[in-house]
Amino acid sequence: MRRRVASTPTVVTVASEFDLRVAEWQRDLDSALAGLYGEAAEGISDILVDRARAACSDRDPQLGELDRRRAVSPGWYQSHRRVGYMAYADRFGDDLAGVRARIPYLTELGVDTLHLLSLFRARRGENDGGYAIRDYLRPDERLGTLDELRALINELRSNGISLCADFVLNHTSDDHEWARAAIDGSVYHRSLYRMFPDRTEPDAWEATLPEVFPDLAPGSFTWNEDLQRWVWTTFREFQWDLDWSNPDVMVEVADIALTLANYGIEILRLDAIAFTWKRLGTNCQNQPEAHLIAQALRAVLAMAAPATVLLAEAIVAPDDLVAYLGRHERDRRECELAYHNQLMVQGWSMLASGRADLARTAISRLTDIPGRATWFTYVRCHDDIGWAIDDRDAAAVGLTGAGHRAFLAAFYRGDFWQSFSRGHPFGANAETGDERTSGMAATLAGVTAAIDDGDPAALDRSLRRLMLLYGIAFGYGGIPIIYMGDELCQQDDPTWVTDSTRSTDSRWAHRPRFDDALAAARCNVDTPTGRMWAWVRHLVETRRRCRPLHDDHATVRVFDPGHRTVFAWHRSHARFGELVGLANVGEDAIDVVAHPDLGPGAIDLLARTDPRPWRLAPLQVRWISADDGYATVPASQTEHLDPEVSA
Ligand code: GLC
Repeated sequence: MRRRVASTPTVVTVASEFDLRVAEWQRDLDSALAGLYGEAAEGISDILVDRARAACSDRDPQLGELDRRRAVSPGWYQSHRRVGYMAYADRFGDDLAGVRARIPYLTELGVDTLHLLSLFRARRGENDGGYAIRDYLRPDERLGTLDELRALINELRSNGISLCADFVLNHTSDDHEWARAAIDGSVYHRSLYRMFPDRTEPDAWEATLPEVFPDLAPGSFTWNEDLQRWVWTTFREFQWDLDWSNPDVMVEVADIALTLANYGIEILRLDAIAFTWKRLGTNCQNQPEAHLIAQALRAVLAMAAPATVLLAEAIVAPDDLVAYLGRHERDRRECELAYHNQLMVQGWSMLASGRADLARTAISRLTDIPGRATWFTYVRCHDDIGWAIDDRDAAAVGLTGAGHRAFLAAFYRGDFWQSFSRGHPFGANAETGDERTSGMAATLAGVTAAIDDGDPAALDRSLRRLMLLYGIAFGYGGIPIIYMGDELCQQDDPTWVTDSTRSTDSRWAHRPRFDDALAAARCNVDTPTGRMWAWVRHLVETRRRCRPLHDDHATVRVFDPGHRTVFAWHRSHARFGELVGLANVGEDAIDVVAHPDLGPGAIDLLARTDPRPWRLAPLQVRWISADDGYATVPASQTEHLDPEVSA
């Protein structure tokens, strides 16, 4: 008799997508948490993985699909096709329905990344332009409901637009439910903040803390009558700093991040990330733990919602910046995106001084960014410009840091010989001599003064300045961000000074309402608006064809083209070749030496001509490359470059 041998079924365990992601990210999470919380970290890690698992199973199938697409196209945010737009939700569209109605405008402009500011419920009354959050999870009542927000996000996505939103994780407003519970006596909620019964500790901390808003809110602590305590308030008196040394803060905040990612927000902007960790005896900015916080959040989100990337709002000194993109002694997975604050500041500095040597020195000193990261390049945003000129860079070109910073502040407030700007001071600090600047790009570049003076030649120059700065932002590499109104050459909002709720904060000068009349005139190229619109459209279209602007593992170097007035950069991409950008910040025409890597066959992508001779008109920007992009390559051969687009 033959014995039947029972065959053992082969058990194939198919790990779930979630488990695979946990396997990939657990070490990142654990090492960040260990650095933050020491022995207490293990329990926290388990809680966070559980929260991520719950968020993953709640995730909308469409977002799950996006996660999968992005798994094969991880550098989607590095595409040369990306173009961003940044606007206050209410000032752009009144409410969420109004923003939806503007989607055709955004697509006409060529935008595929939209940063909507001030989306979520902010403090009633003064709220620092929406950065004092009362409820992280629900849109402001004036804007609409959560369902409307979800509908907006879906409609944006079906139009190829990714939403970026603020995640204000350094502080809540004083009317957030945690703050109210703290006032009501909850020990747990008190422990989420930093509070002190008397001045002993605040005095010790303040010995080394700089003032962020010296005029609006001097000091970093606010006495609260109900609590009978001093509360840590780095920014305004109603913005209570969270105590990130308490692991409960990590758990609460990570939970919120997961929910926001599940709304379909694809880029979370980590507001004021540099301020999150406090260390006695320091300025409490850019502490190593601030990076660990970003790394832990990165890991938790990657487990549940890998389509979401992080943008560091770290407006910090050049030496401190690149670390937010994960560049440390050993690279870490941290934020994918950061504002190129130095390029922005140096752009304005070059226009005021007519020289590019300082910018070259400062930008050359920045460490290369990791291959998975890229910049947000921008000309203006909703904040003031802090004149982040490094003393050593200034000294290297025969200036003093303090002198040049004071010059820029005076120049852009319009108080300097031959200044073309009509900006406004912000955050002037008599003690340190520091002063920042507010104003729309058009106003800072000279449009307002030229129109007031009825001077057409000056108006032409001011437009060229604005075009030059946008030409750098679009051609340097990274996602270029158009600040709402700049595409229309919109000037300052004159109403901020007469409105008592805004007049103490000059940043409102550059937060105007969207101007429908200007938008209606956008195709009239005889107006400054029409010229600027046409230029921005041209930059968008040229960029989309310009593959050397693809940013995965590309290098960019500023170089000296032999003229002090020319800012020059050289991009090199392993597959897509070279691009040289040249911007003449001076008011004379200049001949520069052709770059050796770009021989015959190179073309000027912006002028669409042979670049020879390598001459620059005053305030002209050129992008020169041997790669004429999609113009000459059949679409079928290029689709693989950008799976997002062909998907
Ligand atoms: C960020 C915001 C700024 C705000 C600050 C405090 O820097 O961009 O507008 O005042 O954070 O939240």
